[in-house]
Amino acid sequence: MSLTQIIRFPTHSDERGSLIALEGNDMIPFDIKRVYYIFGTQSGVSRGFHAHVHLKQVAVCVAGKCKMRLDNGHEQQEIWLDSPDKGLLIEGLIWREMHEFSPDCVLMVFASEPYDESDYIRNYTEFLHQAGL
Ligand code: TYD
Repeated sequence: MSLTQIIRFPTHSDERGSLIALEGNDMIPFDIKRVYYIFGTQSGVSRGFHAHVHLKQVAVCVAGKCKMRLDNGHEQQEIWLDSPDKGLLIEGLIWREMHEFSPDCVLMVFASEPYDESDYIRNYTEFLHQAGL
């Protein structure tokens, strides 16, 4: 499975502007149980630094951009989230970090489960252990 699974969202554009509509079990390939968004991130600040055991997520910068760094323990990939029509599907045991937020960045995340701290792995050594490394 590729680390960076991009979903391109269909955009309804006309002379008034653009609209993107996202539905669960369609463009978002799971039941959406939670939506959260990150904004106002200060220059030089990075976030994330965790993996999830079961959670699936789709992340999209609806404004601005940030760089997502993904790591499955074997390989690392970086990808810019820099368009409201560019979703990144993150599923499986993947360590994720977000870097280089633009001042106007609004990073929206659709999640398959409610917030559950017990689903987080926040220690990189523990992540490698769980990944069988
Ligand atoms: P945190 O996991 O540190 O964010 P990031 O992954 O971007 O580094 O979350 C910041 C705070 O928000 C923390 O106190 C937990 C809380 N939080 C919720 O209450 N619900 C949520 O769905 C999320 C993602 C975080």
